Amino acid sequence: MPIPYVPDGLNGAGAPLSFPGASGRGGRRVCPCLLEWAVRVILKSQREIEAIRRSGRLAREVLEHLGSMVRPGITTLELDEEAYRRITAAGAVPSPLNYNGYPKSICTSINEVVCHGIPERRALREGDIINIDVTANLEGFHGDCSKTFLVGEVSPAAAKLVDVTRECLDAAIRIVAPDVPLGEIGNVIHGIAARHGYGVVDEFCGHGIGRNFHEPPSIYHFRNDRSKKRMKPGMVFTIEPMINEGVAGTRVLADGWTAITLDEKLSAQFEHTIAVTDDGRDVLTALDGESATWA
Ligand code: MF3
Ligand code: CO
Ligand code: CO
Repeated sequence: MPIPYVPDGLNGAGAPLSFPGASGRGGRRVCPCLLEWAVRVILKSQREIEAIRRSGRLAREVLEHLGSMVRPGITTLELDEEAYRRITAAGAVPSPLNYNGYPKSICTSINEVVCHGIPERRALREGDIINIDVTANLEGFHGDCSKTFLVGEVSPAAAKLVDVTRECLDAAIRIVAPDVPLGEIGNVIHGIAARHGYGVVDEFCGHGIGRNFHEPPSIYHFRNDRSKKRMKPGMVFTIEPMINEGVAGTRVLADGWTAITLDEKLSAQFEHTIAVTDDGRDVLTALDGESATWA
């Protein structure tokens, strides 16, 4: 399915990208993930948050398993098949499969691929970096997470990009609390990335999540004052910065999904699903004992 271009006026309140961001490129293109956005922010009850945690845990366990399989020679198709097996064996559905026509169960984004790389019969090579993005729908609720893994030994530049991208996500998660403007997330991420001369992707964003894979609010990863809306207990959203070694701009390949960097330099990404609580945050895709990371 081609990426839709949304004319002015249709790209309304919930949809982002109607203004120039970090790349200064107008940002008229809208990710197909944004087609479900005709609804307002849906605050979740504690029961619903626990349900999202169950799908988030499953997605994370599958993600960790796939990460352990990453090595030179394995194909992204093999990773996809393993994800399908594990998610369905747990009684869940891989959320991406058939989502707006997406053909596979996970996204596998190698090197210059920013996001939405489609698993295929291509083997990983020593020195690659690969983002694996896993989303599971268990009992009607989605949980979404991703990590960038190193294939064997990678260049110091690639390792640094991956480390800084992880730092961007962790720093953004630490500020999540009631009354914080949503736009602060992008300010924190942009501040860290810019110190290293990296580009912050502004053509794809984080999103609310729950019974919908993607719903409001939009979570921008670049510096912006458009998200004056404040965080509220019961909001559940992803933060998923895509950080580029070079320019921020992206283009989508003819398959209608695969987004790559305009300069074909590396891009890395990490993602968690997070609930806003009465006094802070609850990372619903965390493993046991991991929450100290964001204390
Ligand atoms: N998991 C991606 C996200 O973080 C969305 C993938 S949509 C797909 O929002 F259709 F490409 F799978
Ligand atoms: Co997401
Ligand atoms: Co994701």
